[in-house]
Amino acid sequence: MDARPDTASGYFGAMGDEYDSLIRRALPNYDEMIRELTAYLPAHPRRALELGCGTGNFTLALAEHAPDCALTVVDASPEMTELTRERLAALHPDSAGRSTFVISRFEDLDSVSEAFDLIVSCISLHHVTDKGRLFRHLHEALSPGGALRFADQMLGGSQASQDRNWERWLEYCRQPGHCTEDEIQGLLDHAAAHDHYIPLAVHFELLEAAGFTGIDCVWRNGMWAVVTADASGGN
Ligand SMILES: C[S@@+](CC[C@H](N)C(=O)[O-])C[C@H]1O[C@@H](n2cnc3c(N)ncnc32)[C@H](O)[C@@H]1O
Repeated sequence: MDARPDTASGYFGAMGDEYDSLIRRALPNYDEMIRELTAYLPAHPRRALELGCGTGNFTLALAEHAPDCALTVVDASPEMTELTRERLAALHPDSAGRSTFVISRFEDLDSVSEAFDLIVSCISLHHVTDKGRLFRHLHEALSPGGALRFADQMLGGSQASQDRNWERWLEYCRQPGHCTEDEIQGLLDHAAAHDHYIPLAVHFELLEAAGFTGIDCVWRNGMWAVVTADASGGN
C-alpha cells in the first residue's frame, strides 16, 4: 500500500477490507464509539446523509437502527463506496434498495440538494480543512430541527492534553498484536498529509456559527469524540 497517496480517500481506498483490521488495531474503542454514535441517533429518521462510509461499519449500524430510512452515502473513494454497497446489500437488502451512493469529496457536495432529517459521519470530517464552510453547508442540507451526529478525531483543548492524547494513541498502536512500526509510520504520514484536527471547543463555535443548536459532546476517549447538534428551526 502506498503510504503517501494524494488524497485521504486514495489512502483509504487502497486498503480495501484491510481497513477493518487496521482501524481496530489503531483506534482504541472503535466499536464502542460506533455504538455510542448510534445510541444518539434520532429514533426514526426518514432521509439520512452519511459522509465517509469507509468499509461501511457505521453505515450498517445506521441501517440496523433505522431500517426504513433512505440513505445517501457519500465517499470520494470508489473502492470504499463499492465495499459498503456490497455489505449493505448482503446484510440489509431493503436499506440497500433505498440507498444512493455518491462518489464525491465532501467539499464538492453541492450536487446533494435534497433535505435530510439526519446527517451522520464517523471519523471522516477531520479530513476537511474548512469545517466552518462544511457545517454551514450541512445546516442548509438539513430540514428544520434535523440532526447532525458525528464521531471524529480532534485536537486536545491544550497542548498538554493533545501531547498526552497523542502519546496514549501511540502506546495503544504499539501494544502487542496491534500495529507494526511500518503501519504506524503510514498512519503518521497520512495524518501529516491529510488530517486537519481542531479542538472540540472550536467544533462547538463553528457549529453554533453555522446555525446549530443543542450542541453537545456525548462521548469522548482521548482524541475521539461523538458530537450531537440540531439544525435550528425545529419544534
Ligand atoms: C477513516 S475512514 C472512516 C470510515 C468509516 N466511517 C468508519 O467509521 O470506519 C474515512 C473515509 O472518508 C473518506 N474521505 C476522506 N476524506 C474525504 C473527503 N474529503 N471527501 C470524501 N470522502 C472522504 C475516505 O475515503 C474514507 O472512506
